Amino acid sequence: MSSINYAEKIPNNVDIGGDRTLQRALEHWQPHFLQWWQEMGPSDFATADVYLRTAISVDAQGWAHYGATKMPDYRWGIFLADRQAERKIGFGDAMGQPVWQQVPGEYRSTLRRLIVTQGDTEPASVEQQRLLGHTCPSMYDLRNLFQINVEEGRHLWAMVYLLHAYFGRDGREEAEELLARHSGDADKPRILTTFNEPMSDWLSLFCFTYFTDRDGKYQLKSFAESAFDPLSRTCRFMLTEEAHHMFVGETGISRVVKRTLEVMKEIGSDDPARVRAKGAVDLQTLQKYLNFWCSSSLDLFGSEISSNSAANFASGMKGRPDETQYEDHVLRSSSKKLHTPEGEQEVPMLNALNEVMRESYLKDCEIGLKRWNRMIERAGHALRLTLPSSRFRRSIGPWAGVPVDTTGKMISKEEFEKHLIEWIPSASDKAFVQSLMQRVIEPGRMAGWIAPPERGINNLPVEYEYVHLH
Ligand SMILES: [Fe+2]
Ligand SMILES: [Fe+2]
Repeated sequence: MSSINYAEKIPNNVDIGGDRTLQRALEHWQPHFLQWWQEMGPSDFATADVYLRTAISVDAQGWAHYGATKMPDYRWGIFLADRQAERKIGFGDAMGQPVWQQVPGEYRSTLRRLIVTQGDTEPASVEQQRLLGHTCPSMYDLRNLFQINVEEGRHLWAMVYLLHAYFGRDGREEAEELLARHSGDADKPRILTTFNEPMSDWLSLFCFTYFTDRDGKYQLKSFAESAFDPLSRTCRFMLTEEAHHMFVGETGISRVVKRTLEVMKEIGSDDPARVRAKGAVDLQTLQKYLNFWCSSSLDLFGSEISSNSAANFASGMKGRPDETQYEDHVLRSSSKKLHTPEGEQEVPMLNALNEVMRESYLKDCEIGLKRWNRMIERAGHALRLTLPSSRFRRSIGPWAGVPVDTTGKMISKEEFEKHLIEWIPSASDKAFVQSLMQRVIEPGRMAGWIAPPERGINNLPVEYEYVHLH
């Protein structure tokens, strides 16, 4: 069991003190990170005491330690899951060979790009969420937002450690760039589109943590399989933190549905205008938010047909999430049927792995939908929430720019443009949701558009003062 050394400037369980050059480089990056946090992190809450979870060791007992902390004092550090002795490559052409403790020269630039792309999403989401503290629906939610923010900051540290420790000068330069790009910036945007989308309300935050953090889970799971052992160990530990982010999304949307159903019962109507007049989110509007963030997140898996996915798998750099659940780990003799706008196409399985991953992601997304629909059904309403087709509103792959409706049916461009505001939030939907975003900060109280959570954090009551404002 590796414990985390908190005596050092940078808490870590990888003995960075044993490598003076690495330690100096990371200690040089640290103030840049803190400055970024100050400028681009949660706005205005630097002096608040927040009931945060911090890892004190990577084992089951120590990884979730709770206490009141001011966010700028959070101990961001470098934590890797413990090394598994004799770990072997679990897939691809080099299957069965020992995993790599160093980066093989021929994979250096690809691995660096994969790590940078993952690393870029972490601070991006903090930037996207930076103003949400001002409109929190409760103190409980405010605390959850900040927990996610500090952990995304730590995920940035996780990727920066790999860049510094294994990629020399290029890696150090990339680490600086991770702080120089900003979400939505006209000149230096974040790498992936979803991470440049503005997020100005909590309904978007819940959808983002449901759909986009879940994409994160799938990316991390595929890296957890990687032959590059330090990457695998880093991502295995990140996954333990990621679960909370998706929890916030799933329970957040559940609480919105619950509150809306209460209001519908109260007024004896499912008329969206009347639901809105009572200060709740009508289910039709929620559906539009689901459509927007789900379709945006689907692009993050890349093109349906991809030679990069084939090369990354064959070399051992990136596996499939939960690789052991499959029988064939080499995939040199199988293929997959894909639907493209031109018709059905048979593609070598290696080239279809982005789609394999997207399909398992969508299955995971269905779980919440089922739960919400059960609530709606039990309340006696016919409406059902759905996931949009994976062809809808795509910007990457064969369906990019192809006009299809939310069920995946091809339609004319005119029809698509005419109906789009029925499928994703219109300016007036966003204005309505924005009008609900009034800060509620008294411990235990909730905004009128969301039901209270079933339980508090770490067995504390819901009305606990999770954020002490000064
Ligand atoms: Fe993350
Ligand atoms: Fe996350």
